Amino acid sequence: MPDMTAPQIIALESPGCSAVWELPAGEAPLWRYWGPRLPDGARPSATLRSERPEPSFSLQFDQPLTVFPGFGMGWFGQSALLADRGGHDWSFQATDCKVEQPDAQTVRFVLHDAVAKIAVTTSYTLDPATDVMTVRTALSNEGVAPLHVHWLAAAALPLPEDAAEVHSLAGRHNSEFVPVRDPLTRSIWRRENRRGLTSHDCFPGAVVTCADGSAYGAQIAWSGNHVQTIEWIDDGRRQWQLGEWLAPGEAILAPGAVLQSPEVLATASAEGPNGVAHAFHRGIRARMSWPGGEAGAAKRPVHINTWEGFYFKHDEAALMDLARASASIGIERFVLDDGWFGKRDDDTSSLGDWTVDKRKYPRGLGPLAKTVTDLGMEFGLWVEPEMVNRNSELYRRHPDWALHVDGRPLLEARNQLVLDLAKPDVSAYLFDAIAALLRELPIGYLKWDHNRDLVHAGNQPHYRAQVLATYALMDRLRAAFPEVEIEACAGGGGRIDAGIIKRTHRFWTSDCIDAVSRAQMQRGFLQFMPPEVMGSHVGASPAHSTGRSQSMAFRCGVALPGHFGVELDARKLGDTERQELMDGIARYKALRERLHQGRVWMGDVGDGVVWQAHGSEQDMVVLVTRTQPTTMRHQPNLRLPMALPGRTYTIASESGALTQMDGGWLARVGIAVPPLPGEAVLVLEVRS
Ligand code: GLA
Repeated sequence: MPDMTAPQIIALESPGCSAVWELPAGEAPLWRYWGPRLPDGARPSATLRSERPEPSFSLQFDQPLTVFPGFGMGWFGQSALLADRGGHDWSFQATDCKVEQPDAQTVRFVLHDAVAKIAVTTSYTLDPATDVMTVRTALSNEGVAPLHVHWLAAAALPLPEDAAEVHSLAGRHNSEFVPVRDPLTRSIWRRENRRGLTSHDCFPGAVVTCADGSAYGAQIAWSGNHVQTIEWIDDGRRQWQLGEWLAPGEAILAPGAVLQSPEVLATASAEGPNGVAHAFHRGIRARMSWPGGEAGAAKRPVHINTWEGFYFKHDEAALMDLARASASIGIERFVLDDGWFGKRDDDTSSLGDWTVDKRKYPRGLGPLAKTVTDLGMEFGLWVEPEMVNRNSELYRRHPDWALHVDGRPLLEARNQLVLDLAKPDVSAYLFDAIAALLRELPIGYLKWDHNRDLVHAGNQPHYRAQVLATYALMDRLRAAFPEVEIEACAGGGGRIDAGIIKRTHRFWTSDCIDAVSRAQMQRGFLQFMPPEVMGSHVGASPAHSTGRSQSMAFRCGVALPGHFGVELDARKLGDTERQELMDGIARYKALRERLHQGRVWMGDVGDGVVWQAHGSEQDMVVLVTRTQPTTMRHQPNLRLPMALPGRTYTIASESGALTQMDGGWLARVGIAVPPLPGEAVLVLEVRS
């Protein structure tokens, strides 16, 4: 007799993760497991429904969590889809499921609902090289009337019963990556962003930690509006939904039309948040494409950026002097920031007019760019393509190109409006304007800014159209100029996400370069993104954003782990500061390949001291950062949990002091941290 309770199972596995689904006939697949890698062969022996008795006051049809939980047919939790056709066809339940496996790492579930007349394809690719599962969902309207979509989850993931806390990131301009920890209870947890771009306020991802020390991470690869919810469900597990926030009227699918969700990157690790970070770093690296292939990532060049040193005061001779001063201290890339175009003497004019300001550069930018490249540096240029000032030639010619809602006033931010990139004429104009610059000048790098939130996104909301059009413009420019790198910036860290990084190479982490503030922000960043794409600059002291003063050594130490740069007037440094900055640059150059190519672990020593280690278990650069004076007589020990027992580690500090220690002792008991001043970064090289 066949065992009626034996489930039909399908699974994906990578070295660190497993995903297991049960396939009941004629229904959506049920989530049986997603998490850290299961032992080989660990599979359920009975169907989920046969394992659990019917609870009182419950439907006789048991509806567990599926890959696409639908409202209105016995699922009482959050629905992965909210949609209707003029008030009809509002309930969803798959009547058929086809399983496709295009390759060994991918499973696609093609669900049909013959009653609601829709099809949904959810696909999962678990990459064995990264342990990241990429999830996406496509919805198609198979009816004869338009389908109004209010919510489509890109992913609906299960979390285990012992999920305890969710770690997310909040913030604002000048204060990105503020860590937020919320306990997971039976109340729903929800984060939403409706600012039209990724936002400073709500990073599109989170990490969930569990009582057993494991952790789960997910992030949405999308540079627009987004939603995440974590919800307790009847069997004690939780479901985590992530997707795009849709404005009313934004997603009306004509018959036959398809709505494709953004991708979600998801991973889990028995090692906790550091394991999640490791998977995300590998997953992000795998999404990127560097001019010159992967080797392009290895030696991230030292920048100078003109913004905080010069703001809008561009003077060709002074900037040529800056180029010479920069080259002499070891800078490798010179980025000319805002102020070079139109008649831009402040932030009230000229966005949209991407031609050189002849008052400031009578001979064009060619001579400055040549000075820079003759000095052996690369030349980079700031642009803000999606924007227009009312006071610009472009706006006077095409006022209708700005996103607006008829009859409503235009709301400005930083005196600027947003162009409607979904209009083909607008995208074509921007492509031509930027392409002309790239053709005429030896530009190796664009800093691509976006200095406001979206508000009136068109008569019919164009939020998602705007994101897709921005991606398309970047893709077109990348294809035409594959040797050019792009930095994603939006008033600092307003557009940091796994969607934009597919076509860019660096994030400007924050407009706040204060090293104490940065020390914390960078830890939030590194949970989701690898260090080589984290723009980290040495700014002036006092810091322009906070007024706080910090030593040059501390500023260099905090900037060290990321993509290092300088953002001050390097002509005006005193001898000591100049020498300290040169030392910081030289140290970065000596360490960058070790800082950027491997793993990152982060931990907390206590007493205002945190650490991060970059490299491998056998060879790491460890940064020990103190941001406030000690409160203790003796400093707590630094424990490096990844140190391998039975191996002897050599620990060298910058002063050359050496000690040796057994790996097991270093992992469990640790080494005493030397007394550090109130603000300091100690760099240790730890090798076995
Ligand atoms: C934004 C960026 C800054 C700078 C200015 C220029 O604020 O984050 O780095 O480029 O714009 O206007």
